Amino acid sequence: MTTDALFAGWIARTEQQLQAALPDPETAPRRLHQAMRHAALGGGKRMRPLLVHAAGHLFDADPALLDAPAVAVELVHCYSLVHDDLPAMDDDDLRRGRPTTHVAFDEATAILAGDALQTRAFEVLAAEPLPPTLAVACLRTLAGASGVAGMCGGQALDIDATGRAQPLDDLKHMHALKTGALIRAAVRMGALCGGADETQLARLDAFADALGLAFQVRDDILDVEASSEQLGKTAGKDAAQDKSTFPALLGMDGARAQLETLAATMRDALAPFGTRAGALAALGELAIHRSH
Ligand code: IPE
Ligand code: IPE
Ligand code: MG
Ligand code: MG
Ligand code: MG
Repeated sequence: MTTDALFAGWIARTEQQLQAALPDPETAPRRLHQAMRHAALGGGKRMRPLLVHAAGHLFDADPALLDAPAVAVELVHCYSLVHDDLPAMDDDDLRRGRPTTHVAFDEATAILAGDALQTRAFEVLAAEPLPPTLAVACLRTLAGASGVAGMCGGQALDIDATGRAQPLDDLKHMHALKTGALIRAAVRMGALCGGADETQLARLDAFADALGLAFQVRDDILDVEASSEQLGKTAGKDAAQDKSTFPALLGMDGARAQLETLAATMRDALAPFGTRAGALAALGELAIHRSH
């Protein structure tokens, strides 16, 4: 099967499973349910679910086992976007080509929708069909990546760094937490479902760390050079808010040079897996070359 056909199949599964995991928009509390669905459905590249499936595919994991971690990491990601867009954070009104959740609904509902998307993620992971040992490993992985040592911690560093230039290593650390951690968790959960050993997990961590950093560097580059229409979110916000980014610190050429280095790191990390890692490699390329 071609990589494109694999991706189409994995996205279709993810959309269907997300639909099923979200609450009925016609039952109470309807406004909260509708806000959760607004935040999680109808857009998004589904990069993290694709990474779960591609990592599992490497070890011939049963796709039915991968559905839960794929949906769970996407739910946490969607929650992170809802909160990232809030007036107290990036104060954005456009996301995935539509009004952000607090604009389409209201701030209190958006905060609660984010909270409820997050807890739903862990409920999905804890439910069947994941066997208990695997469920606990995935729960630990995703919880760690979502909290202070992951996305939330990175968002706090992002706020601290706004308005000042931070050293390159601190910038990389901030990106590794705010964006890299969930990406690493996605790859790791897929690999865990496929029964990867410690050596394989370490190689995949190295791949995912490079991909996570590349993904945010590309996000920062696109914020400078793409349009809001192309991105489905407000372009030019990082400079307007004096965010600490790769283009701000190193310039556009410096940021692009970082992407080249990260592409090489990804290729080296995947080399021992051979052609079976084609889907993961293609996602690495996508992180670097994506146009939205
Ligand atoms: C946007 O993530 C926020 C970052 C972590 C850079 P995505 O670019 O994956 O957003 P969607 O899910 O496709 O909308
Ligand atoms: C978002 O980084 C990281 C998250 C953890 C949500 P950004 O603030 O750059 O993401 P966008 O550009 O709003 O999607
Ligand atoms: Mg932000
Ligand atoms: Mg933002
Ligand atoms: Mg951004």
